Amino acid sequence: MKVLIVGSGGREHAIAEAVSRSSRVDKIYCAPGNAGIGQLAECVNIGAMEFDKLVDFAKEKEIDLTIVGMDDPLVGGVIDEFEKAGLRAFGPRKNAAILEGSKAFSKDLMKKYNIPTAGYETFTSAKEAKEYLETAKYPIVLKADGLALGKGVLICETKDDAMEGVKELMQDKKFGDAGNKIVVEEFMTGREVSVLSFVDGKTIKIMTSAQDHKRALDGDKGLNTGGMGTFSPSPFYTEEVDKFCKENIFQKTVDAMASEGREFKGIIFFGLMLTEEGPKVLEYNARFGDPEAQVVLPRMKNDIIDVVEACVDGTLDKLELEFEDNAAVCVVLASEGYPVKYDKGFEIKGLEKFDNKEGYYVFHAGTALKDGKIVTNGGRVLGVTAKGDDLKQARANAYEATELIEFENKYKRNDIGKAIDEA
Ligand code: AMP
Ligand code: GLY
Repeated sequence: MKVLIVGSGGREHAIAEAVSRSSRVDKIYCAPGNAGIGQLAECVNIGAMEFDKLVDFAKEKEIDLTIVGMDDPLVGGVIDEFEKAGLRAFGPRKNAAILEGSKAFSKDLMKKYNIPTAGYETFTSAKEAKEYLETAKYPIVLKADGLALGKGVLICETKDDAMEGVKELMQDKKFGDAGNKIVVEEFMTGREVSVLSFVDGKTIKIMTSAQDHKRALDGDKGLNTGGMGTFSPSPFYTEEVDKFCKENIFQKTVDAMASEGREFKGIIFFGLMLTEEGPKVLEYNARFGDPEAQVVLPRMKNDIIDVVEACVDGTLDKLELEFEDNAAVCVVLASEGYPVKYDKGFEIKGLEKFDNKEGYYVFHAGTALKDGKIVTNGGRVLGVTAKGDDLKQARANAYEATELIEFENKYKRNDIGKAIDEA
């Protein structure tokens, strides 16, 4: 069969790698893709938000299945457009992708259906938000309601920070219309765990757990980024935590969406915080995590096409997910200066050392092909994933592998997976 993947980052490269392992797939296209994805798929120059062009392309090439990796097109309704054209596509429709697209929606859903999460208030007026913040407890968390490239969350230590935050989000409109509404949320402490799942509208199947490292600098310092590295599984996602989440969070979320007339098919990514009071939902995403996909998918034993089709067809109850009994670590190689200001266009050397290197993967995020050479083309450039028998081995393998790649201004965190030592 022919598969189209929509997106252009490390996550989509990991999806393409998993699809390339399927015995059922003859041809992979990716729109728009990147230089690394181009080694597995034919990249087509159509943007992820160009819905008409994507649909026309899928019709013309007789694509059997489209997998959408990114949040923007899902929240914008790309699946609805494919379905209207009679095409099969994997991901939530617009009315379900709101689970990620509106933080106020997801908080109200959790409240209504008694799913554990931080206490919150929602505001559409900066004046009212500021009045509330006068007497609030600190630290406190402000969140832009809409999509803001993962950067619309402000942790405010003091009242002054919070007032400045309201100004940034609601008055200066730093994230555009995403800040028309804000959620003001209780600050929680604990370990974070990412749990990805496949959902077919009724049934949910949980993938192996992972943990991201969102800050730019070692020791979780510096600015928030798209993610600097991941490990899987998380040793903190214990059987007890799993049992609690299965009883109180996962199926309840799927059922809640169905009850609201917003049947969810696709990936639900549960961002969890393991607090002293038990696991609570930090956020939902309606897609694979990036770079969580880069450590979870390489460990998945199932043919991804079987699983994706079961979600689309509503037959996920007949399938069991299987993961390798090992571990994986992904270390992101970024451009020095990311996420603020960085140079691009440097040649990347050493990629060929990974050809046929079993258990190792180089997922491209921000790369481009220039005069036949692969060059840096973004803040996050590559994700180097390595497997190992356990987390420590996987981490050692991943860090060793990062030394095989060279480019000017290469930057990485040196403490991805440090938490493993505390487990
Ligand atoms: P989100 O995009 O909602 O996952 O938020 C980004 C990051 O902000 C999370 O990964 C957490 O580290 C942090 N965060 C979000 N909400 C809270 C909260 N209520 N309490 C503490 N930290 C939070
Ligand atoms: N790694 C976090 C995310 O994909 O949103």
